[in-house]
Amino acid sequence: MQDTTIRLHSETTSIVVRIANGGVAIVYWGPRLAAETTDEMLMQLATRSEADGDVERESAITLLPTQGAGFSGQPGLAVHRSRTAWGVYLEPIDATAEESSLAVKMQCAGTQIQVEHRFELHSDSDMLVVSASLTNIGGTPLSVQHCAALTLPFSRQLDQVTTFGGRWSLEFQRQTTPRRLGAIVNENRAGRTSHGSLPALVLHDAATNETDGIAIGLHLGWSGNHQIRVDELPDGRCYAQLGELLLPGEIALGPGESYESPRVYGTLSRRGFNGLAQRFHRFVRDELTDDRVKGKLKKVHFNTWEALYFDTRPATINPLIELAANIGIERFVLDDGWFRGRDDDTRALGDWFVDQQKFPEGLAPIIDKVHAAGMEFGLWVEPEMINPDSDLYRAHPEWVLHSDPAPRFMMRHQMVLNLTLPAVQDYLFDCIDALLNEYSIAYLKWDMNRNLEQPGGRDGIAVVHEQVLAVYALMQRVRAAHPQVEIESCASGGARADYGVLANTDRIWTSDSNDALDRLAIQRGFSQFFPAEVMGAHVGPRECHITGRNLSMAFRAGVAMFGDMGVEADLRELTADELTILSAAIEVHKQHRALIFAGDLIRLNTEDHENAFMIASASREQALISFATLSSRPRGAPGRLHIPGLAANRRYTLAPIWPAESSHDTDGVLAAVSGQTFTGEALACAGMQLPFMSPGSLLVLSLRAHP
Ligand code: GLA
Repeated sequence: MQDTTIRLHSETTSIVVRIANGGVAIVYWGPRLAAETTDEMLMQLATRSEADGDVERESAITLLPTQGAGFSGQPGLAVHRSRTAWGVYLEPIDATAEESSLAVKMQCAGTQIQVEHRFELHSDSDMLVVSASLTNIGGTPLSVQHCAALTLPFSRQLDQVTTFGGRWSLEFQRQTTPRRLGAIVNENRAGRTSHGSLPALVLHDAATNETDGIAIGLHLGWSGNHQIRVDELPDGRCYAQLGELLLPGEIALGPGESYESPRVYGTLSRRGFNGLAQRFHRFVRDELTDDRVKGKLKKVHFNTWEALYFDTRPATINPLIELAANIGIERFVLDDGWFRGRDDDTRALGDWFVDQQKFPEGLAPIIDKVHAAGMEFGLWVEPEMINPDSDLYRAHPEWVLHSDPAPRFMMRHQMVLNLTLPAVQDYLFDCIDALLNEYSIAYLKWDMNRNLEQPGGRDGIAVVHEQVLAVYALMQRVRAAHPQVEIESCASGGARADYGVLANTDRIWTSDSNDALDRLAIQRGFSQFFPAEVMGAHVGPRECHITGRNLSMAFRAGVAMFGDMGVEADLRELTADELTILSAAIEVHKQHRALIFAGDLIRLNTEDHENAFMIASASREQALISFATLSSRPRGAPGRLHIPGLAANRRYTLAPIWPAESSHDTDGVLAAVSGQTFTGEALACAGMQLPFMSPGSLLVLSLRAHP
């Protein structure tokens, strides 16, 4: 096949791909190009001189750069056949292009492999989706050490790298590092998406902020191990590379077999981090949200975990059902503790049968009560896990992942089932299917509380890749058999949050921490890639069980109302006042959730001790602003909040809507603006003077445009 250049378009973006001997490379990705701008011009403009002390013919940064093609950076593809056939040099054999999609087949005669790169450019969200598949066309097994999904060269102007990670109960923290000579690498070997490293990054420059500036956002939709890196080569070129991290020997392709990389989702912005977030959200709403739930308003949850832990019995559950219904809860979720022998976290995972001691009449009386109170019923499960102290383990010790003869290490007293075994898949499906057939269950909280530290299968081969696919397959099987059931992806909080799992589930449990102050940072990081309607956000107990911090009900509820809202506090313990405030907050959430679950997120630039964002309807008819004070203000009086993103010439009436009662501190300022009308321009350019507010307090303002 001749060398060729192919251009894909969405409404506002063009991408130009060069297909040539040596590999496929992205030579342009940016604002939509006019027809007058030819591909030849782009190629001429990209001409580089030989760098001093470097090879005469610089190897292009292709989607999968290889040493066989003279590339000395991190290869995108690393394979061998018993130590030979590693020098991959790809040559094009076929390309099929449409307006916004492209599939290119490449082949290496020497190593006997074929690679197919797939591109889709989605028009509404402007999302580029790229993946690679690798096929062994030789006659002997091919060992695959690495096969990235995408290697993307980018401009040196983007000299900052933001990644997202943290730890259990403090996930999605943003971390910005200046790009430098060498590599910035995030490797995840947790065997699940992990608390430590979200498979995503944002490239930008030092001037980029929430509302302004250039940025590229990339996300790998994969719930297993990953490697995310940004390299700056000595010759001055920069690239980002995202792919699955493969364990030693994990992928060996027999003749004719293929490896499919996860997909990378990428988009560009000239309107700061918000521009990226809005496109990621659009994509989730258009493409990843299942038709079963599209357009449905998410229900307000009550979840029993922090109220009851393992003390789940009719006597403890029934009062909560009544109290929950009274404050406007719509879905009652029975968390851990309901199945045979599950009195604490040391036992019973795997035995997915209702505990007859705790529930002599099964779950039916509880579920009937939930329904009679006008709510749906949801149930917690953790299908992938097993406790050694379980009937399942006693019957099938050979069903777990392991790296024998090393001791089997426990995490929360549990091990991981080997879902790549069909018998395990069938057992789990049958258990879940039986529960969903017997009981009217609208929702499953699908948990996963440990890493895959010893991910060996029966023959000792590492199976993280296969395990992730097996989990997706099990979720799909459950969904197909019970389409009315919504599924939440939980993994000790937010350790399985990515587009791979989201394509198979309907909600993500963002974090085990319900500390509303920490939640603001967690939710902010999360919101870079995920919209509010998939963000589980619960009101926790008065004293946070994780951090021990005490925050007011008005603040806790004000933070939770901007996600898929729920309550986890023990309702039996709340004062009458707290219950009144909580039910008022749930009402505010219900009044505004159509906007929260569909609007554009515009995070506002603030000082470090503050957190502010707006959710505006696409038409800019209405908006909600959340402004929180996190810690003591550094100066005597607070500054102004600039609110860009509304229609400049339209007039908006401003009304504080939360908390229900303004405090002594906020009175003066709020009296001046409450019920008054301001243009979008005034709010953006002049900004609003902020009231005095104590640390751990927030204000929600509503803006409505005049007709
Ligand atoms: C994990 C989840 C919690 C809760 C417990 C139950 O930690 O993240 O929300 O469901 O498991 O054991």
